[in-house]
Amino acid sequence: MEGIDLDSVLEEQDKIPAPADFLAGAVVADPAAARSRAVQDSEAFWAEAAADLDWYRKWDRVLDWDFPFADWFPGAECNIVHNALDRHLETWRRHKVALLWEGEDGHRQVFTYAELSREVGRLADALREMGISRGDCVTIYMSICPQQAIAMLASAKIGAFHNVVFGGFSADGLRDRINDTQCKVLVTADGGLYRGKIVPLKEAADKAVAQCPTIEKVIVYERCGHGAPMTEGRDITWEEAVAGRSGNAKTEVMSAGDPLFVLYTSGTTGKPKGIVHHHGGYMVGTYLTSKWIFDLRDTDLFWCTADPGWITGHSYIVYGPLINGATVFMAEGSPDTPDAGRWWRLIERYGINILYTAPTAIRMFMRLGEQWPSQYDLSSLRLLGSVGEPINPKAWHWYHQVIGGGKCPIVDTWWQTETGSVLITTLPAEAAKPGSAGFPFPGIDADVVDKQGNSRPSGVGGYLVVRKPWPSMLTTLYKDPDRYREVYWEIVPGMYTAGDAAVRDADGYIRVLGRMDDVLNVAGHRLGTMEIESALVSHAAVVEAAVIGIPDEIKFEVPKAFVILHSGYEPSEELNNELRSHVADQIGKIARPASLEFVDSLPKTRSGKIMRRLLKAQERGELVGDTSTLDPGSVPVDQDEPEGRSRG
Ligand code: WT7
Repeated sequence: MEGIDLDSVLEEQDKIPAPADFLAGAVVADPAAARSRAVQDSEAFWAEAAADLDWYRKWDRVLDWDFPFADWFPGAECNIVHNALDRHLETWRRHKVALLWEGEDGHRQVFTYAELSREVGRLADALREMGISRGDCVTIYMSICPQQAIAMLASAKIGAFHNVVFGGFSADGLRDRINDTQCKVLVTADGGLYRGKIVPLKEAADKAVAQCPTIEKVIVYERCGHGAPMTEGRDITWEEAVAGRSGNAKTEVMSAGDPLFVLYTSGTTGKPKGIVHHHGGYMVGTYLTSKWIFDLRDTDLFWCTADPGWITGHSYIVYGPLINGATVFMAEGSPDTPDAGRWWRLIERYGINILYTAPTAIRMFMRLGEQWPSQYDLSSLRLLGSVGEPINPKAWHWYHQVIGGGKCPIVDTWWQTETGSVLITTLPAEAAKPGSAGFPFPGIDADVVDKQGNSRPSGVGGYLVVRKPWPSMLTTLYKDPDRYREVYWEIVPGMYTAGDAAVRDADGYIRVLGRMDDVLNVAGHRLGTMEIESALVSHAAVVEAAVIGIPDEIKFEVPKAFVILHSGYEPSEELNNELRSHVADQIGKIARPASLEFVDSLPKTRSGKIMRRLLKAQERGELVGDTSTLDPGSVPVDQDEPEGRSRG
């Protein structure tokens, strides 16, 4: 991208304003005013948000910035769990439902704030007795269940930092993450249900722990009760661990800059990076973004479909919503078990108001057809969210009409494991543009720039960067500050570089064009993957597409497309030609795929992101290893990592 701008070619999309009755009660009724206040003095803006929360000791300064290391709220003392739980017990929310969970088998668990706090306190007490204290690490390896959130909160409560490993990862993935953090205690489950089968978590944990010399104790939550193996002296059931404990464990007083968790992410390549987040700044970022972006109100039932094992679950199932005193819905298992109506049935049954999911799930449901959602009453929904990948305009409209009944604002939230909370989105009272995430969140100084850091004119793509620190940012990579500086702050010198390509239009909306690594260079034109894919998906026959660049002697690269058809359409040479011409018509000849392949599935990460890098390697005939663990219809969770056994 040295010296060359990215072309943005996708058709301009119309603005979709928020419905009038939504505006009337919106949490942020005047987004423009909030933005201009934040622009004047972003530190004052964040301090004002922080002042909504409880602190044991107030900060001396809002930010100490020793490039590229930020210390937010230095001098302050707090504990995120005090804000997520303790403080609600002093209010009417004490008996409000905090978590409502349904297992894949219909099994249900409900926790009020008082109950949740008690269970967190009991586990915290047990962990303390096992010798865990401030600065220690607790690894958590479970499938989606309230106990997963309880284990996170219990660790944070006693000042330990957690290391949640997604339950779909293999024993090897778990082993490496435990060994990197040298942790003494693992909290796991005997299993979890996925597509009607028990995922044997405990067996995988045993295999991992056999190669983890630091592990002293394993706490096992019995979700399935199928008699998973237990190792005498090392393993203890959750039930036994908390038996006889009152739940009155003290919440540890932490410094704002003390670590809250480490979460490993590989990005699209390389050794997993341990992303570190902290009590103070992360608390403020997740608090304010949950409230403003999801328009969170006390009367809402909020469902983020991610697994708490990803950052989306950390920030928008556990911490952000609970700090706001919200009622959170969680569901175990697969979206298509026992049938493709499961999610819509849950929305109808529980009256879910806010749904936050990923484009991969939306496209999967699009493919399965309207007949599934149309059987259910989805009128309780009032706000929809998308995260994880760019959402193609056609999928946006389907989500808006078929799921939202045309009456729900959609927030397309751009962020990363590293950013901790959402950085780019429209606020729900603002008009959205399908395919564009929107504006930087108030207080966030995001921009689209060239390699030297100069802002790109509107319509010209470049690097998506953040110029100034923000409260919920990662502050380093676990045990690797040099890599932190290199990976994030040196690509465009002096700015946080996310690794994404983006473009800002004349109205200021930012559209994410895809990963920088995936950008195509066709005869000197730099094209992001998102726009060519969206042009393909805009054809009635196409539900999902992936585009890569393949070498070409004359043009350097030409686009090659992989396309999944809607049911009812058959691959043919005519359709192949028609689709390639369709791209040329929609966005120009330069983007016309030189070749196109019809496929039944696309390789995806465990979190549902399309792995173009794998398609490229296959195309070049490179050995890509065993890809059987990639799940094409994978669950809408977020992680750029192909490893791990398939749960399908
Ligand atoms: C990458 C971060 C924290 C969110 C879950 C994924 C892509 C994420 C969007 C969006 C376009 C998006 C980016 C980003 N991404 N949200 N709304 N529009 N792209 O977290 O696994 O750390 O992945 O996901 O490429 O860099 P993650």
